[in-house]
Amino acid sequence: MIKVGIIGVGTVGTSVAEILRDNADMISARAGVDIIVKSGVVRNLSKKRGLDIAFSDSVDDILDDEEIDIVVELMGGVEEPFEVVKKALHAGKAVVTANKALLAYHRYELQAIAKDIAFEYEASVAGGIPIINALRDGLSANHIESIMGIMNGTCNYMMTQMTNDGVAYDAILKESQELGYAEADPSFDVGGFDAAHKLLILASIAYGIDAKPEDILIEGIQNVTQEDISFAKEFGYAIKLLGIAKKDANEVELRVHACLISQDEMIAKIDGVMNGISVIGDKVGETLYYGPGAGGDATASAVVANIIDIARSGKSAPMLGFNRPMEGDKLTLKPTANIESKYYLRVSVTDKAGVLASITKIFESHNISVETMLQRSSDNESANLLISTHIAYERDIQAMIDELEALDFVNARPVMIRIV
Ligand code: NAP
Ligand code: HSE
Repeated sequence: MIKVGIIGVGTVGTSVAEILRDNADMISARAGVDIIVKSGVVRNLSKKRGLDIAFSDSVDDILDDEEIDIVVELMGGVEEPFEVVKKALHAGKAVVTANKALLAYHRYELQAIAKDIAFEYEASVAGGIPIINALRDGLSANHIESIMGIMNGTCNYMMTQMTNDGVAYDAILKESQELGYAEADPSFDVGGFDAAHKLLILASIAYGIDAKPEDILIEGIQNVTQEDISFAKEFGYAIKLLGIAKKDANEVELRVHACLISQDEMIAKIDGVMNGISVIGDKVGETLYYGPGAGGDATASAVVANIIDIARSGKSAPMLGFNRPMEGDKLTLKPTANIESKYYLRVSVTDKAGVLASITKIFESHNISVETMLQRSSDNESANLLISTHIAYERDIQAMIDELEALDFVNARPVMIRIV
């Protein structure tokens, strides 16, 4: 019999215990051994959780319990779970986690500590979709050319509701929290950090790149307005928060931001809490992964799959997919300034003669070529200029936005959304 201790019995932890209880027959048949949850750790012992397991508020009750074979870390955070997981590995216990924030900062240290001890984290990226398994095992014969997709269910749910039903930002964020999609601190979702944590994990498996959130371009959906959404619709785009990893010679660009994406693309059609990730390998071509990216049961489905895998063999693949570094030219992170894209800008200006001419001059001075331009009056005195560009460098766009913001006839810092 395999005994599991769950540290953090909240949205996901509760579902893990329920699945192991409700699907016990099938799970033990697949694993070849019975798997039970021996105990769980929470902060608030007085909260009713509807589970017939022992509860404690001390992580040591699980870490020091010699009967526990697998520690499931579902408490969230970074440094506190890092200490907990290290202690579990030092005690020789296998670990399963869904904690992408922990892995975004400490995955290489944990890999070094884990060595041959099983450490699995399928649920950390894209909830119920087995994307880690696909990338680390199924596609291991390939050089990965790109990974692009929707990696945050909360943002996709919010953008879908804002686009289809015009629901206000605050109301829909609250609903995402109530549905158990959002992180404990939802600014991780809407600020793009959660998707960035996931992208960094995938980038390690695909490219062996050890980057931290601070090293890459991360923006969220906080500045997207109904005006941008209408522009997108009018020009045949959807707005999605995407994580993008792209190999270009010996460099890899990593970025998370809201994107205007053609409504004809598969990813543009992925709505609600669903995630969708496209991976292009040099031999296999494009593969697409689609499914629920957040929520208790969907995420717990991936956690329990890891538990079953460990129960079957007691081992896991090399945690981040490489048994040794690649020989030859190393891949490095492309500097953000060198990223190239098409851009959409919304510039709020005073509606008077000469403004348009001045603006186009500034575009020209930064080597940025305009593709389309629309003027929408907001009131008698001001107007919004909605502009899309041809391909330009990130450094040029940022410098131009700084210059535009400083002009007396520009009312606020221009809003920019990249076009893919
Ligand atoms: P949650 O509902 O907030 O649950 C966290 C649990 O951890 C709670 O039971 C909490 O106790 C317990 N906890 C927190 N700090 C603790 C401490 N210091 N000592 C003891 N117990 C502690 O969070 P969640 O949504 O289940 O997420 C858990 C992890 O899964 C996070 O890393 C998250 O990023 C990840 N994840 C979540 C989802 C999702 O859809 N929710 C999807 C993928 C990955 P109390 O209940 O007493 O407060
Ligand atoms: N808060 C995350 C999301 C949970 O909305 O995608 C799944 O990782």
